[in-house]
Amino acid sequence: MSEKLKYGMIGGGPGAFIGGVHRAAIRINDEAELVAWADVIPEEARLKAGVDMGVAPDRIYGSFDEMAAAEGAREDKIDWIDIVTPNAFHYPAAKAFLEKGIHVVCEKPLCFTKEQGEDLKRIAAENGALFAVTYVYTGHVMAREARQLVRDGVIGEIRMVMGEYPQDWLLDALETITEDNKPWRADPKLSGRGAAVADLGTHIENWVSYVTGLQIEKLACNLDVFGKGGVLDNNVEALIKFKGGATGIYWTSQVAIGFDNALKIRIFGDKGTLEFVQEENNYLRVSLRGEPPKIYSRGAGYLTPEAKKYGRVPTGHPEGLTEAFANIYKDFAAAIRDKKAGKDIVEDDYGYPTVQMGIDGVEFFNKCVDSHEAGAVWVNIE
Ligand SMILES: NC(=O)c1ccc[n+]([C@@H]2O[C@H](COP(=O)([O-])OP(=O)(O)OC[C@H]3O[C@@H](n4cnc5c(N)ncnc54)[C@H](O)[C@@H]3O)[C@@H](O)[C@H]2O)c1
Repeated sequence: MSEKLKYGMIGGGPGAFIGGVHRAAIRINDEAELVAWADVIPEEARLKAGVDMGVAPDRIYGSFDEMAAAEGAREDKIDWIDIVTPNAFHYPAAKAFLEKGIHVVCEKPLCFTKEQGEDLKRIAAENGALFAVTYVYTGHVMAREARQLVRDGVIGEIRMVMGEYPQDWLLDALETITEDNKPWRADPKLSGRGAAVADLGTHIENWVSYVTGLQIEKLACNLDVFGKGGVLDNNVEALIKFKGGATGIYWTSQVAIGFDNALKIRIFGDKGTLEFVQEENNYLRVSLRGEPPKIYSRGAGYLTPEAKKYGRVPTGHPEGLTEAFANIYKDFAAAIRDKKAGKDIVEDDYGYPTVQMGIDGVEFFNKCVDSHEAGAVWVNIE
């Protein structure tokens, strides 16, 4: 194994949801180590948490600006920065590091506006920086299998897509919002113009486009705000027309009692159907016309080589969210190593979700809000 890569992180302090999962995923691959970290929590807690993570005290920062200035000036620069803050800080933090020529991994949704996303893409290109957006559900082995089966023509020409993503973990917080007690996901200043549509809807949009290659031509969307005091959507229904004639229905909700994280996507072609259920992500249901449905199992020998290479333990030993992140990091580290070796990089060839996919997600949720505000009318995607 060649020398370990070095990375920094912004966000993901004690009690944060996703930063620790990213660090665990990177540890599984054993290809990189955390050497710099920034968070806005109070200094004493920050120093303790950073040292506990193995970061040297002089590389623990109280803001991403300070971190970008200091880390960007070092000879032994980090290979990439990992941005796991609330949405509002993705754009300025990514920009600060791209301008130093440092590769970026950013959580979704990428930013607030398509213009910000295009800006990040341009700055990345100008500075030779790679950019991954952690749409984690594309990292599951069975997502890679579904993508390859579509590419191999197994289900034929796609006709319809049904995507749903109900949750209820924020239900109590969303029903009791006050000005002083608001989850950042329900605060437009931190979340952006959309809540469920940006947080969850973009996962559906991304998974479908990642797996099928379909591009949305137009959509019509209704947003609901159930409960008291909320201003952002917590329930979303969208009708989709794809370029080429396929259609779709996407539904997501943060107030669907009884559902944990129930992303389910069905893709119907003229030869067959694929069904992926996130909470049962070690399996993929494949139905071919005129045959009984089959359940493909992650780790089985019959999977395509493109999917099989991401499996880590034998079939029947479940892999999950952390392994899915690890697969995205595995792709990203491969691109960084190839770039360091002087190879020409085409980011789409590595398998991780790219900055363009991040931009598509931002355009998707903004168009959903535009459609809703105009009375759930059809709006075109450029
Ligand atoms: N891919 C996924 O499946 C997935 C899952 C969960 C969250 N997310 C995304 O990850 C991001 C973080 O979500 P979360 O649930 O972990 O949030 P969180 O509130 O649990 O954690 C946010 C962390 O960022 C820190 N922070 C806040 N402002 C900061 C700033 N200006 N600079 C540095 N640090 C700052 C907080 O102190 C905290 O440590 C969001 O964009 C969210 O959409 C993605």
